[in-house]
Amino acid sequence: MTASPLGVADTSWVGETTASRAEPPITLEGVTKVYRGGGGVRELTVEVGWGEVFGFLGPNGAGKTTTIRLLLDLIRPQSGRVRLFGLDARRDAVAIHRRIGYLPGELALYDRLSARETFAHFARLRGGPDEATVEHWAGEFDLDLDRPVRTLSRGNRQKVGLVGALMNEPDLLVLDEPTVGLDPLVQRTVHDRLREAVASGRTVFLSSHVLSEVAEVADRVGLIKDGRLIAIERVAEIRARAVHVVEVRVGEPEGLAVLEGVEGVSVRERVGDGLRLEVVGSLNPLVAALAGLDVVDLSVHEPSLEDVFLSYYDGPAR
Ligand SMILES: Nc1ncnc2c1ncn2[C@@H]1O[C@H](COP(=O)(O)OP(=O)(O)OP(=O)(O)O)[C@@H](O)[C@H]1O
Ligand SMILES: [Mg+2]
Repeated sequence: MTASPLGVADTSWVGETTASRAEPPITLEGVTKVYRGGGGVRELTVEVGWGEVFGFLGPNGAGKTTTIRLLLDLIRPQSGRVRLFGLDARRDAVAIHRRIGYLPGELALYDRLSARETFAHFARLRGGPDEATVEHWAGEFDLDLDRPVRTLSRGNRQKVGLVGALMNEPDLLVLDEPTVGLDPLVQRTVHDRLREAVASGRTVFLSSHVLSEVAEVADRVGLIKDGRLIAIERVAEIRARAVHVVEVRVGEPEGLAVLEGVEGVSVRERVGDGLRLEVVGSLNPLVAALAGLDVVDLSVHEPSLEDVFLSYYDGPAR
């Protein structure tokens, strides 16, 4: 079975010529996989291109992990086609897996092995980078290579999985909630490495239930809920149509009256000498109106995932 804890190592590092990028790294066509309990994914159609970070965003139970398992051929669809690099996910699994770095959502490691031994084990099985490269990546993530992974904290175990997937520099990284349990500094390291990967033309598919993470690193986002793809958008478009909650306090509260007529702005409530506003779409008209006021304090809250999805259900027809 290919469901190894550290995914499957690419072998391009040994000097093999990089395989063709003529075909898109990921193509899902009408893919349906419904479990006995009724959960799963339905009629998913997505194409992910070379050199992009594609974020797969959805709440718990949306179908993110199911989709990733379909990509890896760990489960099989009841209908539809899953293709990677133009190859059939099932028939050509061996050739495909050589080019993928995979971080599962529920990482299973060999508890008694250290990270170094874990990586060496996979390198023996199917190739992997040399010791110096392993050291380099461990340094990047401040990962202790020599402690048994059983003694590592949750975040440090996650780093073992991430380093294992990243250090082979695969053509396609498939990461299921990669930054869960990582502190903000390490999250930033992950995002930086992912940006580097796509800058060199490789592709990243990552799932998340956190809008801010996806917004920070992804180029395009697939919104998934209840097993269905609600929309595929560029990050800027999601931000533009999302509802922001803005709190503003001013020196002279009488001046706040001018905000009532501003495009996209509606007043939710008065809070002390300020207002809590709801802003639909661009923040620019509000910012322009605020320029004429004596602003003492201003805070803008990121829309919740729920609000983002609502904007796609309730918003204007697309
Ligand atoms: N092996 C399984 N057997 C039966 N139902 C399953 C199985 N795996 C997942 N499901 C159901 O399919 C739906 C999608 O689950 P999935 O794990 O893909 O969601 P997810 O988006 O990854 O959620 P999370 O954010 O919690 O990881 C859920 O309703 C879940 O209960
Ligand atoms: Mg999941």
